Amino acid sequence: MLRTHYSNEITEELNGQRVKVAGWVHEIKDLGGIKFLWIRDREGIVQVTAPKKKVSEEVFKLIPRLGSEDVVAVKGIVNFTPKAKLGFEILPEEIIVLNKAEKPLPLDPTGKVKAELDTRLDNRFMDVRRPEVMAIFKIRSSVFKAVRDFFQKEGFIEIHTPKIIATATEGGTELFPMKYFERDAFLAQSPQLYKQMMMATGLDRVYEIAPIFRAEEHNTTRHLNEAWSIDAEVAFIESEEDVMELLEGLVAYTIDYVRENNERELKTLGFELEAPKRPFPRLTYDRALEILMDLGKEIPWGEDIDTEGEKLLGKYMIETEEAPLYFICRYPTEAKPFYIMKYEDRPEICKAFDLEYRGVEIASGGQREHRADKLVEQIKEKELNPESFEFYLRAFRYGMPPHGGFGLGAERLIMRMLNIGNIREVILFPRDRRRLVP
Ligand code: 4AD
Repeated sequence: MLRTHYSNEITEELNGQRVKVAGWVHEIKDLGGIKFLWIRDREGIVQVTAPKKKVSEEVFKLIPRLGSEDVVAVKGIVNFTPKAKLGFEILPEEIIVLNKAEKPLPLDPTGKVKAELDTRLDNRFMDVRRPEVMAIFKIRSSVFKAVRDFFQKEGFIEIHTPKIIATATEGGTELFPMKYFERDAFLAQSPQLYKQMMMATGLDRVYEIAPIFRAEEHNTTRHLNEAWSIDAEVAFIESEEDVMELLEGLVAYTIDYVRENNERELKTLGFELEAPKRPFPRLTYDRALEILMDLGKEIPWGEDIDTEGEKLLGKYMIETEEAPLYFICRYPTEAKPFYIMKYEDRPEICKAFDLEYRGVEIASGGQREHRADKLVEQIKEKELNPESFEFYLRAFRYGMPPHGGFGLGAERLIMRMLNIGNIREVILFPRDRRRLVP
């Protein structure tokens, strides 16, 4: 390999030893008799010091000819000295130019010159070279690792369901139609129906981590047209509370994992991630409406809580309960999809919940209706055609246990965890109304 150590792996025990470092030219300083080169890699920066008397003529002459963002590999001797800014330097024996970077650069990867988000996203390969941006994607990787760890630990089985489907799951809007040979098909907006069908198999506890596709009309800071969903479905639950506990456990575990494993990245972002306080408060929809009314915002009963309402509630929950994370539960039946179970004694409300993080919905879920006859009724009540759900309904007729689950938006979780305002910051190549390339 062209590299033996990352910048952060050079410790005092390596003093006097030969190493190979590699990366991008971050900065060059030419003081005549001594030349400096700072190389940036994934983990940080190393200083290469070239005093005329101590290095070959070839190396000495090469350094000033290097340009920002050229890719180089340096073989040299580690020298720990208090004179170096980072506590050590590398005295180069050999410098190999692996590739030159064209000029002018489309972005300043040192971050000194700020660029618009659009310019950054157009040049994402270079944007990610900035430590704050790289930190986000390292944390994103940790989040996915933590989620998998949690599910495996809790006895879940990972499944993979089709992304080319024939029927809408979350209602008819927001679908991307596509041609499937002679037929019409859609990109899946959720694994909902398939993960529920798995409850009739005996797998009992399943999860899936996969993209969802939604033809969101508007460009907002919290919607993508291609997002990653963390879905779970569990059989033999007693109520939606069982699902809420599971989701709470998952989110708390993930936040704790990031706090423990991404200290450096959080520091780079200058962000103190607070430990999750359990249990997360459970607000009923009715109570949420009352709070909003007191805050001067009226939402007619039955309607979804809009973005502004969510923001107000989010602020209220932090100020009064120090709770950035909280559930809203017992939603009006009319505001939720057909597959959610109603309360027997109050059928105008249902066993659905949302999980909010700093005033943004990051997940939704609930207990499902597992009785086929009732499910058909509910499909009709939403003015959908049960015939197009026949493949799904079949799974309910031959032994379907009570079950429930949730869908947690990975980008929503990460953006709110890091208190980032725009969802595009936390996905490498966002798909929005205007953005299809790169
Ligand atoms: O609330 P949604 O639409 O619920 C479902 O898909 C259900 N099948 C979940 C369930 O198991 N009952 O989506 C779930 C989550 C949202 O809370 C949000 O975090 C994320 O998926 N999400 C989006 N994230 C980014 N951009 C979009 N356009 C999103 N649409 C949903």
